[in-house]
Amino acid sequence: SRGVASGPQLVGFDAIAVHARDEVTLPAGYRHQVLVPWGEPISGRMPAFDPLTNTGADQAQQMGSHHDGMHFYPIEGQSPYEGSSEDGLLVMNHEYVEPRFMHASARGQSLNRNAVPLFNGQRPADEVLKEMHAHGVSVVRIRKQANGEWQVVADPRNRRITGTTEMQISGPVRGSDLIKTRFSPEGTRTRGTLNNCAHGVTPWNTYLTCEENWAGYFINTATQPREQRRYGVTREGTSRYAWEKADQASDLYQRFNATPQAAQATEDFRNEPNTFGWVVEIDPFNPQSTPIKRTALGRFAHEGVVFQPPVEGQPIVCYSGDDARFEYIYKFVSAQPYHQATAGGHLLDHGTLYVARFNEDGSGEWLPLVFGMGGLSAENGFHSQADVLVNTRLAADFVGATKMDRPEWGAVHPQTGEVYFTLTNNSRRTEDQLHPANPRAANDWGQIIRWREAGTAQATRFEWDLFIMAGPEGDSQFAGAPLNQEQIFNSPDGLWFDRQGRLWIQTDMSESVVNTGKWAEFGNNQMLACDPVNLVLKRFLVGPIGQEITGVCSTPDQKTLFVNVQHPGATTSAAEFAAGQINSHWPSTAAIYPRSGTLVISREDGRIVGS
Ligand code: FEO
Ligand code: CA
Ligand code: CA
Ligand code: CA
Repeated sequence: SRGVASGPQLVGFDAIAVHARDEVTLPAGYRHQVLVPWGEPISGRMPAFDPLTNTGADQAQQMGSHHDGMHFYPIEGQSPYEGSSEDGLLVMNHEYVEPRFMHASARGQSLNRNAVPLFNGQRPADEVLKEMHAHGVSVVRIRKQANGEWQVVADPRNRRITGTTEMQISGPVRGSDLIKTRFSPEGTRTRGTLNNCAHGVTPWNTYLTCEENWAGYFINTATQPREQRRYGVTREGTSRYAWEKADQASDLYQRFNATPQAAQATEDFRNEPNTFGWVVEIDPFNPQSTPIKRTALGRFAHEGVVFQPPVEGQPIVCYSGDDARFEYIYKFVSAQPYHQATAGGHLLDHGTLYVARFNEDGSGEWLPLVFGMGGLSAENGFHSQADVLVNTRLAADFVGATKMDRPEWGAVHPQTGEVYFTLTNNSRRTEDQLHPANPRAANDWGQIIRWREAGTAQATRFEWDLFIMAGPEGDSQFAGAPLNQEQIFNSPDGLWFDRQGRLWIQTDMSESVVNTGKWAEFGNNQMLACDPVNLVLKRFLVGPIGQEITGVCSTPDQKTLFVNVQHPGATTSAAEFAAGQINSHWPSTAAIYPRSGTLVISREDGRIVGS
């Protein structure tokens, strides 16, 4: 596209075919190893992995489950993109858990991927603790050995941050009545981060983890306030994993019941859900640091956050998608300018949150979500900036943002600053809701949209177009032609530019459709590499059964690529599970259950991956 000279060949490998086998495939000349699967010991007592006997305490010293967004931080700790390509801290999210693969008590029961083993309507408290500890973030030092294999290195920085870790809350919502709980009557703290999907890498070398589908972890069976209704807090039955049903009376579990129990909000956990839905900053190089929820970036189902390259003396600019049907894309512009010498998380505490309006003529506008502007005032039900931020979705509704087909990851071209975003699918869009940016009814396939800011990154106007319409040959488009057999994919999710401008695209066909019906021709979930300048697109990787491919980063020299395989075997039916017939045992055929894990990918000739 526009204004980038074509450089070295970005996509030089031979594309691979789709398949539905229980294995990872890569182009000729590539190899991989599997590193840090779920349960791998990384800290403390280094408890060995055993899914049937590990306790909640063990899990807090092991890799979490459901690997997602991640970044490799060179061990020098100076820059997120410069330094060692053989030694670093791998920092990754663990989005959720599959309880049936975690507890001996589940064996022989008829459980699907979403079900939990209940006993007399309760859950054994240690099983709940184990699940909370399998969520969150892992920080693990890894190093390349002389034989070329990577290994975990014991290091004081190795750390688990989980669904129980104490966190600070900063930014405009700190101290608000909306987040006061029995745990934090002053409204400044909470415990844990949950459903950490994609991530962000700050220019000052910290890690951001994004809370996506947190709402269902909470239940409120009374009349829900708008900040719960609009986000989908559970209304009846049990919450997603029934953590509030733990058979031990402790706030750690009962806080997931947001039904008012007392006279005052500071005496119960009605506001606990309001302490989730944020972007959380973690300093991976300081194991004593407390994670901080940065509320100025808004509260929604944050998929991830991606930054424009910082410019000395200019504001920091980043983007985040809200992954739900008909939700929005947001942009944050810091109030203070970036200076490399003093940059830090404080830049994320003050600034303007905008939401995108995509006009039908290819122009677009960033609409500010600022209390007192654009009608976000008391007469329309907004009472402070904290209120606007806790109710980000309602504020975006009010100002007239464009309802998108599930915004997932974004990526910023390292040279042009063009922003690309995946819109994964939206089966519920109807003919009367079509829009040029979301042009398909019953959108099973998804698309990748892109825009260029008008002038500087902090501009409030932009121009957009559709880069790829994903789908089968008969219903897709890239570079003026349908996708061919080396290119077909659907449900784009993970998206990342490497420093040479190679765009990596990862797919997440849902467990409910993958390998069935019209999805069958796409095989298992996959990853492609794209040169957006010369318009080359080729399939690079196909994963095992039941998983999604999500999370991608590289060493600074780009000779090692890290890619996550999440939830292998999730398509095992409840009946198959009861019969002990798990449809994937990836990554080890010797293991009873499949495990999420990280692929470490390199070339046999040692050159840059993808080229
Ligand atoms: Fe967790 Fe939107 O994927
Ligand atoms: Ca995702
Ligand atoms: Ca998924
Ligand atoms: Ca997804």
